[in-house]
Amino acid sequence: MTRRKPLHSISLLIFAMSTIVATAAEPSLKEIMQDLRDNLVEITDGLLVDDFERVARGAAGVAQHAPISAPQAKQIAAALGPEMPAFKQFDEQVHALSLAIASAASDQDRDAVIVNYRRMVDGCVACHAAFKERVAAVLSKSP
Ligand code: HEC
Repeated sequence: MTRRKPLHSISLLIFAMSTIVATAAEPSLKEIMQDLRDNLVEITDGLLVDDFERVARGAAGVAQHAPISAPQAKQIAAALGPEMPAFKQFDEQVHALSLAIASAASDQDRDAVIVNYRRMVDGCVACHAAFKERVAAVLSKSP
């Protein structure tokens, strides 16, 4: 019976370790962006084959993207200083437009999907034009 105790402790330890690993696996901004690209491809595919469910799924993916991790958000804020609200504004704009796409898709309103899709892609590209290079440089220096 005394042999059981260490085993139990080991399983607790493994459980604790897996929790730590899960926390460490918080996605980087680059990984969040790669997911956004996948979501955008899904919206585009849906549009091209008139599959509104697929459009809605991709749009929901954009709307629910993982948050920027606290350490990376701090690094970005430190690098952009007074420009941080403009950075956030682009994120909010893309978020609002992804919701508009999801709603238009559930109404099967192709024209409204397309109008908001164009605006959303404009938002992605506008943030990249304004900030991508600088932010990527700052984040690539992180430990
Ligand atoms: C608020 C600003 C902002 C918005 C909005 C934004 N991005 Fe980005 N994106 C970035 C930054 C900053 C990087 C560079 C990240 C890095 O390299 O660490 C990036 C990088 C990327 C990359 C390159 C990833 C790689 O593997 O190097 C892709 C793809 C991408 N974004 C897709 C998108 C899509 C699709 C959208 C719109 C649905 C979008 N982004 C909206 C800021 C933004």
